[in-house]
Amino acid sequence: MTPLLEVEGLGRAFGGVYALRDVSLAVTRGQTRAVIGPNGAGKSTLFNLISGHLRPDHGQVRYGGRRIDRLSPGKRARLGIATVFQGARLFAGMTALENVMVGAHARTRHGFASAAVRLPAHRREEAQIRADALAALARVGLHDWAHRPAEALPLGQQRSLQVARALCARPTLLLLDEPASGLRAAERRALAQLVESLGAEGLTIMLVEHDVALVTRLADQVSVLDLGAQIAAGTPTQIRRDENVIAAYLGPGHT
Ligand SMILES: Nc1ncnc2c1ncn2[C@@H]1O[C@H](COP(=O)(O)OP(=O)(O)OP(=O)(O)O)[C@@H](O)[C@H]1O
Ligand SMILES: [Mg+2]
Repeated sequence: MTPLLEVEGLGRAFGGVYALRDVSLAVTRGQTRAVIGPNGAGKSTLFNLISGHLRPDHGQVRYGGRRIDRLSPGKRARLGIATVFQGARLFAGMTALENVMVGAHARTRHGFASAAVRLPAHRREEAQIRADALAALARVGLHDWAHRPAEALPLGQQRSLQVARALCARPTLLLLDEPASGLRAAERRALAQLVESLGAEGLTIMLVEHDVALVTRLADQVSVLDLGAQIAAGTPTQIRRDENVIAAYLGPGHT
């Protein structure tokens, strides 16, 4: 069966320095793939090349067997790729529901600006988006927060809200770039549980996460990047024993 996502020989340089170099990997449907590595290893660059926010200098990105590496981010989103960006911000002054709806408007044919005109087609679309947004909020456990200001949410729930925004698009592939960074232990556990349950429902997930215990719990496969290159790939158990990974990232004292 064709993997959902195939990255082949992918490379991207900034100012002559390769942020990502000749990376190849395949993500099968329903898999959770963690991407780990030191700061500046190229993890976010890889995600941006998959989501379309960056174009590659070399290589290909295929989704469902089709090349997508020249498509706009919007087209890739409509094919089913949704992203929670590293350090993503919420819209302050908007409710949780509005935050999710604004994300959804970005993908619709009419867009947010023209939705303001309120033609009948827009009103139907608006009602659908609202229903989808409420469902996405419920899915991440934020139904009761729908009409409260997004910035009033505790940080852990703000991250769940980002996930809801991504889920509103009903993605097939969800890219999560450090969704748990800066969260406290209890919040991390809650977020891990959410990611785990999304994976159990069959969503294909790519996750950047520094906590190896969390990666071991959530990931079927792990890719390890260092200085833009993939230095190892395998199951969490294989990765934890890999000498290159221990030398470049985990350190000798890891458990
Ligand atoms: N838009 C850009 N312009 C110039 N250099 C960039 C750009 N984006 C990334 N880089 C560089 O590419 C390299 C990889 O960056 P990237 O953000 O992909 O790393 P990362 O693994 O996500 O790191 P972190 O763990 O800190 O998020 C870094 O050296 C970074 O400075
Ligand atoms: Mg990053």
